[in-house]
Amino acid sequence: MRAVVIEEYGGPEVLRLTEVPAPVAGPGQLRVRVRTAGVNPVDTKQRAGYFSATASASFPLRLGNEYAGPVDQVGEGVGGFAVGDEVFGSATGQCYAELVVVEAADAVGKPAPLGWDAAGGLPAVGQTAYTALEQIGGVTAGETLLVHAAAGGVGTVAVQIARLRGAAVIGTASERNHDYLRSLGAVPVAYGPGLVDRVRELAPGGVDAALDAVGGDATAVSLALVADRRRIGTTIDTAAAETYGFQRVGGRTTPGLRQLAEWCRTGDLDLPSVTGYPLDQVAAAHRQVEAGHTRGKVVLRVG
Ligand SMILES: NC(=O)c1ccc[n+]([C@@H]2O[C@H](COP(=O)([O-])OP(=O)(O)OC[C@H]3O[C@@H](n4cnc5c(N)ncnc54)[C@H](OP(=O)(O)O)[C@@H]3O)[C@@H](O)[C@H]2O)c1
Repeated sequence: MRAVVIEEYGGPEVLRLTEVPAPVAGPGQLRVRVRTAGVNPVDTKQRAGYFSATASASFPLRLGNEYAGPVDQVGEGVGGFAVGDEVFGSATGQCYAELVVVEAADAVGKPAPLGWDAAGGLPAVGQTAYTALEQIGGVTAGETLLVHAAAGGVGTVAVQIARLRGAAVIGTASERNHDYLRSLGAVPVAYGPGLVDRVRELAPGGVDAALDAVGGDATAVSLALVADRRRIGTTIDTAAAETYGFQRVGGRTTPGLRQLAEWCRTGDLDLPSVTGYPLDQVAAAHRQVEAGHTRGKVVLRVG
């Protein structure tokens, strides 16, 4: 089968599409024929060697942590799945490929309303947003949540979950994404100097919780606007979280993905903006993600 590998750390040019042996589903596993695979900022950091000091990797190294596609092979002892079932989920470091082997326990049925592009892009950002909101205490009716980088992948899902939970949401983005944020149910606000004042105009008493998906200046803004530091979370700035006593948030949750799938099934949740690249244009996909201004998600269209 074809898969993307890197033989060394470096820029997007090190990404190479090549032939590798097809994996086989073992006990408790499924093999999935990948239709789409999401591209996340962590993939670009891994490609660049950002984690090389703390995590050893052997080359050739595979990339990609989320997939969507039909089941192609069912491993021994797996119940509840059959060849042809449409599934999606997370699987670490192998999804930029035509076939992936995944733990059946972590695969979730793809909701019919979700197209393949959205399905391949939802698991990582969806689970991150779901877990992050739980970790900052959940958000409920009557509360206001501030989401930094609300137009990105994590932000797109976090806004919708918070709205489903009944909270009001203020989301930061550049002007070109303000209509997009309104369509998700957030009140948009421009980031940059003066952000604290602009949020206070919208929420004179401050906000109850903040989710930071961009880092940098977002930390000071969250600290100025949220009284309880346990209700501030960041998906990116571990150092700031440790320094100021708020939370580094995120993580995988299969029950969370099942809930997200259910919301998609009922039409309450969507990934409405996805940019797709063919697998052989993976370098272009990485360049877009690294530019840091994707609306929604980037996915690879594999098959
Ligand atoms: N993806 C995941 O599953 C995941 C999991 C764990 C951690 N994380 C981390 O969380 C962060 C966000 O991930 P993501 O996938 O949501 O990223 P992303 O989709 O690539 O984020 C792009 C968004 O960031 C916005 N943005 C850029 N600069 C901004 C600023 N100064 N203030 C506010 N918004 C700004 C852009 O909006 P404009 O175009 O309007 O500027 C764009 O919509 C990354 O650092 C990632 O490593 C992600």
